This record gives sequence, structure tokens and C-alpha cells, in this order.
Amino acid sequence: MRTETKLKLATNVGKARYKESLSHGARIESVIPGGVDSPFRAFNEVGGQAVFFSRAKGSRLFDLDNNTYIDYLGAWGPAILGHCPDAVVKACQEALALGPVFGSPHTLELRMAEQVIKACPSIEKIRFVSSGTEAVMSAIRLARGYSGKEKMIMFEGCYHGHCDPVLASNAHKSSSGIPEGSRTATLQARFNDLESVEALFQAHPDEIGVVIVEPVAGSMGVVPPAPDFLPGLRQLCDRYNAVLILDEVITGFRLALGGAQSVYGVIPDLTCFGKALGGGMPIGAYGGKKEIMERLIPDGDVYQAGTFSGNPVTMAGGIATIELLADPSVYERLEARSAQLFSGLAETVERLALPIQLQRAGSMFAIMFSAKPVRNFQDSLSVDHEAFSLFFHHLLDNGVYLPPSGIDAACMSAAHTEQDVEQSVKVMTEGLKLALAM
Ligand SMILES: Cc1ncc(COP(=O)(O)O)c(C=O)c1O
Repeated sequence: MRTETKLKLATNVGKARYKESLSHGARIESVIPGGVDSPFRAFNEVGGQAVFFSRAKGSRLFDLDNNTYIDYLGAWGPAILGHCPDAVVKACQEALALGPVFGSPHTLELRMAEQVIKACPSIEKIRFVSSGTEAVMSAIRLARGYSGKEKMIMFEGCYHGHCDPVLASNAHKSSSGIPEGSRTATLQARFNDLESVEALFQAHPDEIGVVIVEPVAGSMGVVPPAPDFLPGLRQLCDRYNAVLILDEVITGFRLALGGAQSVYGVIPDLTCFGKALGGGMPIGAYGGKKEIMERLIPDGDVYQAGTFSGNPVTMAGGIATIELLADPSVYERLEARSAQLFSGLAETVERLALPIQLQRAGSMFAIMFSAKPVRNFQDSLSVDHEAFSLFFHHLLDNGVYLPPSGIDAACMSAAHTEQDVEQSVKVMTEGLKLALAM
């Protein structure tokens, strides 16, 4: 049977198990474009209709039809402790009762700033905003203001959110509606390829003021940095007087309390955070060298603002999350469960020599339908999305939820149990064999 036909039969469309989700799906498309508030959530890449979830607790998601899923989406990163940890929910409820927004300074943002600075030594000063995109957009403006240079280098296949500078020449998530000026100001190098970065610096001497990079690329599989890559970027930025921005929106507080920078030993000038830092509340943050951060208005001349920046409920969720993450056993559990999942899958992948790449960095992982390892954007083009779609829908039907994409990072949480992972390995192993028609 041809794969497209198989896929048609495999998706959730028409299945009684998804009755409520399907009927709401038909309604939502008439009022929200594509039926989603963020395109990552749509099932366009895997076929079928996005599932509507009604609640989440620990490692589990529950849908409108009362189906239960062991969750590896983790809300695209924030749910590092699992969904609704009691201490985080309580802290948010208490803050909400005291006032959800003041529009003036308050003690929770002070405490939160002190905690992030303690956890991550490269941060001397920090500003809180409301999303990862806002953090990235603000950090880039600040870096341009500080360096006095407009051009920026980013890396093919890295995702930094949806502001103009980082979508301008993005190889896999591009957009209409971006002014030509933004396009010409953003240059693309290849991830894990220092020569491509140096060539750009040489071609534009004195024009490049910013380099932005994900320390582990999370949107083209999970691609860890080659050992010399991040230290090499640090050296090039120093040599050419450019600001190095590490986008730790996914990796921050996920790979370690001190972020990927503590794992890979690089000291950026500025760091962007989001996702796991807020305990599930909408958050972004950017911080770094005092000398750079003090260029922000009202101290300096670079503008950034926000009605909801440093929101008290978000700060309360973040403080409670960091307090829980300060217990080293949390990271040990994340590592143990992630290793358990991968060794369970590797057994079958190796024994049957399946064309599958299992790539992970700590609790971020990707199961990629590719015969060769994915080390950069070009490699990620060889991923077999149809086979992934069959795999995805087999998992969905059997109560395991992955990102609906063959290359975006999945996330383990500290709430996943050994039994959750054992069950997932069983379902995933069947799914691999089925998708590869064995
Ligand atoms: C590395 C990275 N940077 C930035 C962003 C944007 O964050 P947000 O979706 O909160 O705007 C994301 C989101 O997936 C991300 O993965």
C-alpha cells in the first residue's frame, strides 16, 4: 500500500475515539486561522486534526474525549516538572489573589531576578518579558544598540521565535511581510560550522554586531553543538567585536540550572530565557553583562517595555519552579528517565538496523526517521516525514503524545515515572516497526 494511502487510514480523522476533538476542530477553523493560535500546534505536518486537550497533570494530558496520553510535548518546553506541580499552582494562586498585575515594581520580580542571577553566573542584570520571542527581539535590539552595528549572524535551521530579524532569512520557517531591510541585515551561517561564520565576518568587516545561536538546536532535530563550536563563536565575537547572544529559551533551566552555557562551558554576552523558567506561565527574559544591560532605557538609550513584563503571577510561578529545580535530584531524574527511554528504543533500532536517529541533549530529544545523523539543517532535510506521521498517529491512538513534527524537540519531565517510560518504549517500538512496515 502506498504511504499516502496508509497515512490517510492512519490519521485520527473519522475515528470515534476523537469524536469531541473532531467536532470542535471543525468549528474552530471558522474562527481561528488554521484552527490554532500558533502554527506548531496544527497537524499539517502529520495529517489529521489537532486534538483538543482539557486538562493536564504530572506526565499526563487528557483530551476532550477523556483519552489519556503520556506527554512528551511538555507544552513545547515549559512543563519541565510535569503539569501543574502543586507548589507552583499554589504560588500562582496566592499571587493572583494579591493582584494579577500592578504596572509598578514589586518584590516578586526582585526575588525572581536574584534567583536567576544566582543560578546563571553570566547574568549580571536581567529584564523579564512575556515570551521567548519578546526576549529575543529585545536582546537583538540591545545588542545592535550596544555594538552600533546592524548586521546579525544566525544559523540555518535554528528557531528563535517570530520577530522580523530572526524570520528574515530563516531557512525553514520563513514569512511574507518582512521588510527588505530586515532580510539584508540577517546573515545565515551553518550550525556547527565555524568556517561559515568566519567567512561572513570577513565578507562584512565592521558591519556585524550580533551573533545569535541556540546552544542545542531544537527545531531541526535535537542537534548538540560540536565541542569547538560554542567556544569558537565566543572567540570570533571577541575578535570582531560582536555581541554573542545565547538563545536558551528551550535549554535554559532544562539542561541544568545554569543552562546549556554551564554544560558546554561558554560565557555569552547576553542570554535569552523563556519556557521552563515560568512554571507554565507566559514568560521571557533576557540578561547578561551589566555594561550592556545598562544601555536599556531609562538608564541608557535602547527601548524595551511591556504592560505584562515581570507579571506577579508569572514571577510567583517562576520562583516556585526554580526552588524545585534547585534540588539536584530533579535533574538526575530527568536524565535517568530520558536515558531509559533512549536505551529502550536503541535496543530495537540497533538490533533491526532501523533508519532511525535517536538524538538527545539531557531531557530534550528527537526520534528522527533518517538513515544518517542530523548535525545541521541540510541533514535534517533527509527526514522521512511520511514515516514519522505513521509513527505519530500510532502513538496518538495508543496514548503517547509527541510534538506533531518529525524534527521538533520532544521533552521529558521530572514527573514521568519508570512505568510511564516503559509503556512508552513499548508503544514507540511497535510504532517504529509499523511506520517502517516491518
Ligand atoms: C530556542 C527558541 N527561541 C525562541 C523561541 C520563541 O519563544 P516563544 O514561543 O515563547 O515566543 C522558541 C520557541 O519555541 C525557541 O525554541
